Amino acid sequence: MKLTPSDLASEISTALTSRGWFVGEGLYSPALCSALLSDLNHLYDQQQKFTKARIGYKSSKTLKTHIRNDYISWLDPLSPTVCQQEYFKITESLMDLLKKELFIPMNAFEAHYAIYEPGGFYKKHLDGFKTRKARMISIILYLNPDWQENLGGELIIYNENNPNQIDAQVTPKFGRFAIFLSQSIYHEVVTTPQNRYSLTGWMRYNEVESDPLALFI
Ligand code: OGA
Ligand code: NI
Repeated sequence: MKLTPSDLASEISTALTSRGWFVGEGLYSPALCSALLSDLNHLYDQQQKFTKARIGYKSSKTLKTHIRNDYISWLDPLSPTVCQQEYFKITESLMDLLKKELFIPMNAFEAHYAIYEPGGFYKKHLDGFKTRKARMISIILYLNPDWQENLGGELIIYNENNPNQIDAQVTPKFGRFAIFLSQSIYHEVVTTPQNRYSLTGWMRYNEVESDPLALFI
């Protein structure tokens, strides 16, 4: 069933408030997911468009392949393809609704495609820390047709209050999405035996660096 951001916003808000995460389907149509997957494959074919993912913030970004070894390609919000535009529209309208329901300040969105090749993983981590440019909510859309259960490559979501306890093991099935609080939910990608495709987005709060109006106050 096709669901809109408004159909899901209150259910997602309730889950984020009570346990910090939600997993669902139906927000991104199969047609959109297929278009995103071919978009991703098109970029993957042009080798230089995907690079080994790095860890850290700005200048301290380093390549730590013992923590993660996936390949990523950032979406350019200034020149989105048609399907990227549709993805931004849906996800940004969800962000606006969540902002109102949860009273979390958010004013920016960023996203990248990710490919984990066979043997790919991402060790247990948080996505965000409280800084002037902070990730607040992570949303991951899976683009793997015909993914079998218990193959490996699952997303493990840990308990918000007890990060040693597993809350969920999510099979990265086509069209499924996982959404969670970036700064409080530990998660991990189990080693995958086959190519694993996804589109990861972050709803962020970027503190305004210099407010020109401040000069007049
Ligand atoms: C990430 C991440 C999880 C996934 O990119 O930070 O944790 O399931 N991804 O792809
Ligand atoms: Ni993560």
